[in-house]
Amino acid sequence: MKTILHSHQSPLSRLNRTLAGKAYRDARYFILVDENTYNHCLPQLVAQVTPLQKAEFMEVPIGEDCKDIAIATQLWETLLESGADRNSVLVNLGGGCVSDLGGFVASGYKRGIRYINVPTTLIGMVDAAIGGKTALNLSGYKNQIGFFNPPDIVCLNPSFLDTLPDEELFNGVFEMLKTMMIGAPDRYEQLCDMLLGGTLDLKPDMIAACAEIKTAVVKQDPTDKGIRHILNLGHTFGHAIESFSHQTDKPYSHGKAIGVGMVCALYLSVKKLGLPQSCLDHYRSVATKLIELPHYTLRDTEALLSFMRQDKKNADGEIRCVLLQELGAPVIDLAVDENEIRDALLKIS
Ligand SMILES: NC(=O)c1ccc[n+]([C@@H]2O[C@H](COP(=O)([O-])OP(=O)(O)OC[C@H]3O[C@@H](n4cnc5c(N)ncnc54)[C@H](O)[C@@H]3O)[C@@H](O)[C@H]2O)c1
Ligand SMILES: [Zn+2]
Repeated sequence: MKTILHSHQSPLSRLNRTLAGKAYRDARYFILVDENTYNHCLPQLVAQVTPLQKAEFMEVPIGEDCKDIAIATQLWETLLESGADRNSVLVNLGGGCVSDLGGFVASGYKRGIRYINVPTTLIGMVDAAIGGKTALNLSGYKNQIGFFNPPDIVCLNPSFLDTLPDEELFNGVFEMLKTMMIGAPDRYEQLCDMLLGGTLDLKPDMIAACAEIKTAVVKQDPTDKGIRHILNLGHTFGHAIESFSHQTDKPYSHGKAIGVGMVCALYLSVKKLGLPQSCLDHYRSVATKLIELPHYTLRDTEALLSFMRQDKKNADGEIRCVLLQELGAPVIDLAVDENEIRDALLKIS
């Protein structure tokens, strides 16, 4: 897969103007980075956003390791020692791990200071940086503690993606396919054609479209009690596939697991809601451009089912999924019985 990313006029100059405005007068800034975003993104950010030139930066471990209460405590201590007050602003410069942690830390410090997300991964730009879910992991379980608390600003600067490894980019592409499937069928077809053609030429407007869809959904249901569940298409299966894969020698990243999970969701959508078979076949051919689809045995399906039984969307002891009636028409909280789930898992590839 060839990856092309179009650069365009920097949204960082807009951030520069916003931070020069009245709302941010006298604000002190703290920038949260990991090693990669320190090296690849921080220089561009501070060069273009003047108010951040005097910011203090705080570096945290790469990936899930940073979503830990011990790291959050260290950051609170650093903020306190540096004299951060309620007018201070935390700028989260990184992927979903940095923004999940930074949002958590900002939400807790002195009962809440403002924070700005500047996502640097595709997952961050189309998903994690938007929507106000902040999270840490607990006792090996993902996202168990956190707050709903939206960032003050999300600044999408696709040129940060120039240094993102392709593997990380593909993770985000699956979240884009999901978002477009539920909210922008035309764009979904466009992205599929591109992937089938063997080139990934992500235009800023495609990224912005996904960000806008997520923003609009979150606005209707900020605390994830109803309609926001549509964003979980592929995730009931995907989370189980992700957790199960970590017990094998072929661990899947979140994005890829969701990519596989969507095959199962579309399979059940055909069976239960009359989604055209051609949608499933088409998606499967797109997904196989980016991942090798797994073959599960009956025994694997039992292990996968036990993960699915723990899904937080379940109710009354039933496993619930988001399925599609057609592209652009998701149905939330559909109860699916365990035999249907086994069947879907066995028919992935
Ligand atoms: N809060 C939400 O709504 C939400 C939504 C989706 C995902 N998430 C969370 O997001 C996390 C996954 O996010 P992610 O995939 O962005 O992970 P990540 O933050 O770990 O970033 C992935 C990798 O890319 C590197 N990186 C980041 N930007 C880079 C750049 N511009 N150039 C080079 N390398 C760069 C990082 O250092 C890391 O190694 C998970 O913890 C997930 O739970 C949260
Ligand atoms: Zn996801």
